[in-house]
Amino acid sequence: MNYLIKPLTQGFGAEIFNFEMAEGLNENLTQELIETWNKAGGLIVVHNLNLSSKQHISLSKHFGPLFGDPKEDPLQDTVSRYIHPDHPEIYRVSNQVSKDGIPRGRKGAGTYWHSDVSFRERPAQASLLHAKTIPPVGGDTIFADQAAAYDALSDGMKDLLAPLFAWHDFEVAARTQYSKPVVVENDMNGANCARHPLIRTKPETGRKSLFVNPGFTSHIDGLDANESKAILDFLYQHSTQPQFLYRHRWAEKDLLIWDNRSLMHFAVMDYPDNEPRYMERCTVIGERPV
Ligand code: OGA
Ligand code: MN
Repeated sequence: MNYLIKPLTQGFGAEIFNFEMAEGLNENLTQELIETWNKAGGLIVVHNLNLSSKQHISLSKHFGPLFGDPKEDPLQDTVSRYIHPDHPEIYRVSNQVSKDGIPRGRKGAGTYWHSDVSFRERPAQASLLHAKTIPPVGGDTIFADQAAAYDALSDGMKDLLAPLFAWHDFEVAARTQYSKPVVVENDMNGANCARHPLIRTKPETGRKSLFVNPGFTSHIDGLDANESKAILDFLYQHSTQPQFLYRHRWAEKDLLIWDNRSLMHFAVMDYPDNEPRYMERCTVIGERPV
């Protein structure tokens, strides 16, 4: 197959044109895609992909086990109502609501810097998000390269951070980002809470990344609240500088595959309710961060 790969920024990301899934998902093609993904620092944009839900799931499973697979853990309770009725592995993001008031997906998902599911012992590895319907303009998603952000720190700061762990808790987002009616009790009682190193290493590449995010990280283990806040505020400011960012303007049928171990992302909700946006996501369960 003659597909074309182009870099998206100097540091990370690649976009792929003319990728044909119609030829089927053979092992070689999938391995090439994963290799490209690793080389591109964990972000690829595959354009114009006609992907059925089944194909989306089977492609995603090449990256690892999926949240929602009946043999695996589900996503957090809050999102159970947004899971695809026929495919428990597919989580839906949308501002659309049916006539009887049933949301078609989570509205305002990820409208803050975060790394998917970082509040679990085994957070998300890849997320594979497929755009089905997008507004004519707006609804971009921004990515921040946390490996480059780590590399750019001084040796002194790297040494200071190396032994530290932080707590990640879905309650942080549940309290600050979502209105009461869309949060469930189980989000508020520590059911989705985990402690992870501030710096993690991607096993496939050996590359280190910062691993804290304002969406879910509550505090650094063992520090006073003020100390923790000062360090986290610095890291968030540092790691979201323009040179670490790629802003994706979606086209329908784009499939984005990002690595939550080395990237944060932010969904920009700047489009009105009457302009429908509908996306489907498969989420790979990763390793315990080390
Ligand atoms: C997600 C997410 C981004 C978007 O699906 O994990 O954060 O732009 N969505 O919808
Ligand atoms: Mn997300």
